[in-house]
Amino acid sequence: MQKLTIDDLDLKDKRVLLRVDFNVPLDEHQNITDDKRIVESLPTIKKILDDGAKAILISHLGRPKGKKVSEMSLKPVAFRLGNFLGKPIKFVDDCIGEKVEKEINQLKSGDCILLENLRFYPEEEKNDPEFAKKLASYGELYINDAFGTAHRAHASTEGVTKYFEKCVAGYLMKKEIEYLGNALLNPLHPFVALLGGSKISGKIDVIKNLMDKVDIILIGGGMAFTFYKAMGMEIGSSLLEEDKVNLAKEILTKAKVELDLPLDIVVAKEITKDSESKVVDKDKIPSDWKGVDIGPKTIELFSKKIMGAKTVVWNGPMGIFEVDKFSKGTVELAKALSFATERGATTIVGGGDTASAVAKAGMEDKISHISTGGGASLELLEGKTLPGIRALTDK
Ligand code: 3PG
Repeated sequence: MQKLTIDDLDLKDKRVLLRVDFNVPLDEHQNITDDKRIVESLPTIKKILDDGAKAILISHLGRPKGKKVSEMSLKPVAFRLGNFLGKPIKFVDDCIGEKVEKEINQLKSGDCILLENLRFYPEEEKNDPEFAKKLASYGELYINDAFGTAHRAHASTEGVTKYFEKCVAGYLMKKEIEYLGNALLNPLHPFVALLGGSKISGKIDVIKNLMDKVDIILIGGGMAFTFYKAMGMEIGSSLLEEDKVNLAKEILTKAKVELDLPLDIVVAKEITKDSESKVVDKDKIPSDWKGVDIGPKTIELFSKKIMGAKTVVWNGPMGIFEVDKFSKGTVELAKALSFATERGATTIVGGGDTASAVAKAGMEDKISHISTGGGASLELLEGKTLPGIRALTDK
């Protein structure tokens, strides 16, 4: 995936339309609770401003379904961005129309403006050509740094690209493509995939795609229980996808690579912090208990495999890491990834829950790459070409 990047453009004095993914979590008072996506966009924004161009930032936030929803305004993001850049950012409470045009016409070189949530208009998600054309008219150049939204063919990520001669990746997009895309194409071996999360259904295409690329697949999290069931084991009241048992059987029979399931499990009566819990071997899950984390033998086995790898891709927590007492497996494996990184391995973590888990373990700075995209990173691991990346100009 060789795409033109921001470094291939002459930015000076130009109006640059920059699609970012500022879809950040907000609490009930509209405070940003995780600003990673803003932080990761800064190198691109700074480059545009330092090169004397005018930055017009566009993004979505949440799923307002084509209506103005004040709780999903991007205004708090403008404040946070202004703090990072050390100067106030102009925020326009619309993303289309006369008001926007007026503000854009007043921009000077080195200015930055953020427009209101694109998804307040249904045309954004419908990839409406007129809407895309209007957005495109705001910039002389187009840069896409919204990796988190690259799996959506929307007006601002795909439709808009038809109106520019060149469409390029920002630094964040470039980094994501390099790690998730190219590292999967040319990985150093041994290559280990660590897959968790609650359901097989969400990971099946990832497993299928990685099956002939990796050397070892380690499976933890809720989806391990459907595999156990497929092996005829008792899983108590653990999570089960009844309709995926045959699929799990098929994967177990067809896998030509090493596929490891947990050796032991932390089981609990309830998924609460005060619930009774204990460690049991995989074939000793009591009938009325549920699996909530991987056990110590599994942590040891999985850590060993991870530390022996040259490339590791991780997607999905090993247990219910949101509850502290069930987060040990996830936290310990985050540490294993950090040790592997120290030893020179390339370690890649998918976004969403897995990124939150690594943050909880305090290992964020010790992983080669933590993706800013949840769904987007998953689709890349599934081997799909993302429309937002496809639309960028090839080198
Ligand atoms: C994300 O958070 O995954 C992206 O911003 C895309 O959001 P969406 O799933 O609402 O399209």
